Amino acid sequence: MGLKEKISSKKAVVSVIGLGYVGLPLAVNLAKAGFTVLGIDMQEEKVNKVNKGMPYIDDVKAVELKKVINSGNLKAVNDFSVIKKVDIVVICVPTPLTRHRNPDISYVKGVTGEIVKYIHRDMIVILESTTYPGTTEEVVKPALEKSGLKAGKDFYLVFSPERVDPGVKDKEHVSRNIPKVVGGLTKKGTELAGLFYGTIVKKVHPVSLPRVAEMEKLLENIFRVVNISLVNEMALLCDRMDIDIWEVIGAAATKPYGFMPFYPGPGLGGHCIPIDPFYLTWKAKEYDFSSRFIELAGEINEAMPHFVVTKITYALNNSKKCLNGANILVLGVAYKKNIGDIRESPVLKIIDMLLHKNACIQYNDPFVPVLNINNKIYKSVELTAEKLKSADLVLITTGHDAYDAGFIVKNSKLVVDTRNLIKERNIKKVFRL
Ligand SMILES: NC(=O)c1ccc[n+]([C@@H]2O[C@H](COP(=O)([O-])OP(=O)(O)OC[C@H]3O[C@@H](n4cnc5c(N)ncnc54)[C@H](O)[C@@H]3O)[C@@H](O)[C@H]2O)c1
Repeated sequence: MGLKEKISSKKAVVSVIGLGYVGLPLAVNLAKAGFTVLGIDMQEEKVNKVNKGMPYIDDVKAVELKKVINSGNLKAVNDFSVIKKVDIVVICVPTPLTRHRNPDISYVKGVTGEIVKYIHRDMIVILESTTYPGTTEEVVKPALEKSGLKAGKDFYLVFSPERVDPGVKDKEHVSRNIPKVVGGLTKKGTELAGLFYGTIVKKVHPVSLPRVAEMEKLLENIFRVVNISLVNEMALLCDRMDIDIWEVIGAAATKPYGFMPFYPGPGLGGHCIPIDPFYLTWKAKEYDFSSRFIELAGEINEAMPHFVVTKITYALNNSKKCLNGANILVLGVAYKKNIGDIRESPVLKIIDMLLHKNACIQYNDPFVPVLNINNKIYKSVELTAEKLKSADLVLITTGHDAYDAGFIVKNSKLVVDTRNLIKERNIKKVFRL
């Protein structure tokens, strides 16, 4: 049976490498669609949890995971030799930055170093990890061709970016409704990968080459970064001019065309937005090209946590208090609302700066029970009226839906709201970004 028939009849065996935020939901979706999926992860603990039907990612429900484990459609392993018998491999490993903010593609290299041992003819290898344009063709291809097999001739090589929005509850944006961009080294590879993804998403958008798909993903994220930085800059100026930035954005957003609202905040967070653009700035240098928009956006966004600390100092000063020794209750440490993800969260930076200025910090986050800051463990405190009353200042850093603005305002002495959680205006004790 050819690959086309195997995919159409769901007889193709798939391996998803890296069972994290991207890989685990993908593996479950493919298993639900009827494929036999062998998930590979280097972390024994994750492998065991998956096989016991215990998800560790918010977006995967235990009942769904148990179903595909019990049906035998999904199995997790810590052994690359299973690749000998798989038809499609999807790579979903991390692509972070090094300490010097350069791309760290060591995980991708590590995985291709394993795949090459077991690669065989008529197989599709798909890279989903976000990376700089050229990775699939310049790094993955030569690594896999060490097997003696030729990409595009003996096996298919494809890049297809992931667009998951972690923790999203909006039915419109569940993965099935998000079109999948697919760029293969050859037309046939693109077609086969498109057929494969078409089994789990409604729309597939083919592009001519892997590097187009790689660049497309970066454009999406850079678009967000640049627009967020623009609105952050506007927020800084509005603050000086005593204009309410939130009211300005609300008014601009009434324009039915040509404007898309972005909102200011305490800084960028998450695994993608603060990291991915720097993959491109790094690559651009190879072409004597300086990506100024990205650099400038990074500069403005990185200044936001500092601005929040300045705002806190100003608010305390207004009440004849100083930061040194102030009791500050931080509401929300996750980088965005209604999830427990603290990766790259700017709140961690803000807390660290406040601690360095000798403030006393407590926090509440319904999704983050414990927090490690500079090797000290903090526990989320209960959000009671007494707790709010006892703080010199309450800092709202994540706009979780669970936070009741009225309750917070009523019981707090002083509030700095970086998320516009408190909609009511002209309350003297509330300071807004
Ligand atoms: N999280 C998101 O919202 C998101 C969205 C779009 C794209 N992405 C991209 O997807 C990729 C994966 O991100 P993620 O958030 O799922 O990361 P993650 O850290 O949640 O998961 C990666 C997994 O890969 C495993 N892994 C690492 N090296 C391995 C190896 N050599 N062999 C087997 N397993 C290995 C890790 O143990 C981990 O479980 C990144 O490139 C990221 O930029 C992430």
